[in-house]
Amino acid sequence: MINLNVNGISHHVDVDPATPLLYVLRNDLKLNGAKFGCGLGQCGACTVMVDGKPVFSCLTPAMLVEGREVKTVEGLGTIENPGPMQKAFIEEQAAQCGYCIAGMMMRAQALLEAKPDAGDADIRQALEPNLCRCGTHMRILRAVSRARDLMKSKSAGLAPAAAAGRA
Ligand code: FES
Ligand code: FES
Repeated sequence: MINLNVNGISHHVDVDPATPLLYVLRNDLKLNGAKFGCGLGQCGACTVMVDGKPVFSCLTPAMLVEGREVKTVEGLGTIENPGPMQKAFIEEQAAQCGYCIAGMMMRAQALLEAKPDAGDADIRQALEPNLCRCGTHMRILRAVSRARDLMKSKSAGLAPAAAAGRA
């Protein structure tokens, strides 16, 4: 039995403590946003945040995140009320098949929480571990820049263009 805090909710899960976090999220908690791509830390489809940092959940034993804050794409917003990152990906039509998108969003979210003023080069570098087999990388990069502007405008109470210095 392990105790997990996911998206602010505590869960007691009856699993082998060595089970990868990805399997616990998907199979036990029914949070299917994070995806299994390679299982080897080589694609980023399984990326979630732990204490604000992006991690490959396919490589992370569940017991290692006990007592820590896990955030998945489901914690960024809802269908009715998407968060800025989700909104930006929708507005930029960044997804093709969508398989990589939750991982991309979580890695980008971790970057922008740590560095709200991240520039385009920072975004490009941060997303390097995540692959998109559909090749929508340019739209994804644009979506993350848009999310940065949305988040800045939200915290400053400004229109996105003004927050980005484009007003
Ligand atoms: S499934 Fe975890 S990095 Fe590919
Ligand atoms: S949108 Fe298909 S893998 Fe990225």
